Amino acid sequence: MKVLVVGSGAREHALAWKLAQSPLVSRVFAAPGNAGTALVGENWEIAATAGRELAARARSEGIELAVIGPEGPLAAGVADALRAADVAVFGPGRAGARLETSKAFAKQFMERHGIPTARFCLAHDRRQAERALENFPGPVVLKADGLAAGKGVVVCSSPDEAREVVTAWYDRRELPGGGSTVVVEEVLTGREVSVMALTDGETYLLLESACDYKRALDEDRGPNTGGMGAYSPAADVVADAAQLEEIRRTIFEPVLAGLRAESIAYRGCLYGGLMMTAHGPKVLEFNARLGDPETQVVLPRLEGDLCRLFVATAQGELGQVSGECRNLPGGCVGVVLASPGYPQQSTPLSGLPLFPGPDVSGSPDLFGFWGNSRLRGTRVDASGGRILTICAVGSDLARARARAYDAVDAYIRSLPQGAELRWRRDIAQRVVTSVR
Ligand code: AMP
Ligand code: GLY
Repeated sequence: MKVLVVGSGAREHALAWKLAQSPLVSRVFAAPGNAGTALVGENWEIAATAGRELAARARSEGIELAVIGPEGPLAAGVADALRAADVAVFGPGRAGARLETSKAFAKQFMERHGIPTARFCLAHDRRQAERALENFPGPVVLKADGLAAGKGVVVCSSPDEAREVVTAWYDRRELPGGGSTVVVEEVLTGREVSVMALTDGETYLLLESACDYKRALDEDRGPNTGGMGAYSPAADVVADAAQLEEIRRTIFEPVLAGLRAESIAYRGCLYGGLMMTAHGPKVLEFNARLGDPETQVVLPRLEGDLCRLFVATAQGELGQVSGECRNLPGGCVGVVLASPGYPQQSTPLSGLPLFPGPDVSGSPDLFGFWGNSRLRGTRVDASGGRILTICAVGSDLARARARAYDAVDAYIRSLPQGAELRWRRDIAQRVVTSVR
């Protein structure tokens, strides 16, 4: 079977790598792909959001399964375009993707279906936003409604700080994502965890839990990013089966029932960004796709045939295969290497060495998943931002962590002069006793 992966990040490299292992898969294509997907298969020079072009090429190439990585193509209706061309698609249509693409829609959906989340008000202009703030006398969170690549959420320590953000957003027309609606919500306290479910709308299958690190610098300082590292499982946050059961019962089951009640077809991944509070799990956000970098730390331990799982999801037959998914014991830790100015600036780097990972005759427990980049012979040119996620599996998280950071050190030593990368030193530190 020929498979297409849409996107160009490290998540898409991990997906292409795992799909290529399936006995069902004859070839993997990626659009537009990156250096990593070029190692695994063939890249098409088609933008990830170009639905019509992708559908035409998928048809002529005989693609039987398309897997959509990022949110941009989901928002652009690429899944709908591919389905209209009779391609089985892992990824919801535009309607289902609204759980991610509109924070206001997601909050109202949760309210309609009794799904636990932070108390909130919606505002459509500055006056309404200021009035809404009167309901939140202490710390408060402001969320711009549209897709804003992590820049649309501000956790404010006081109403005054929130008023400044509201002024900047409305008066200077700087509302991230370009919409006009803002969600004003209470601050939740607790531990965060990412829980991803494969779902065909009827059944769902939870993947192993993960924690990501969103801030740019150690100790959760600096600006929010797409994610600077992750570990899985998040056994320190979701400690026991009872908590997982509560997540299923109070979040995933009512979401799927709600989608069905509203006649929204949903086939793909539903990602819950959850806060484990003193009053149980609550939803911070939904994503309509797999997480990045969570995917890079979940897939290396996933046993079984990812293509079979995705095809079953895409065809509404997940119930027939969901018993087939197991995880290797132990844990996986991933560290993101980014260009020095990330996330404010994106500095291109050229002539980077390949990482000796699974595609390049490396160690079986080490993985280097490339972000936005191009393969040039045995070297990689990267356009900047998040460049490489180095992951290691181990018999426990402490061993996986030590192995991942050793691999980061070795990779950094192999860089050509002048090539600089930045990474966090504290990924998974809190779950291991040894302090680096
Ligand atoms: P989101 O894009 O909605 O996940 O928000 C990005 C980050 O902001 C989350 O990962 C949390 O760390 C933080 N955040 C969002 N909403 C809240 C909330 N209600 N209370 C506390 N932190 C939040
Ligand atoms: N790691 C968070 C996300 O994928 O949105």
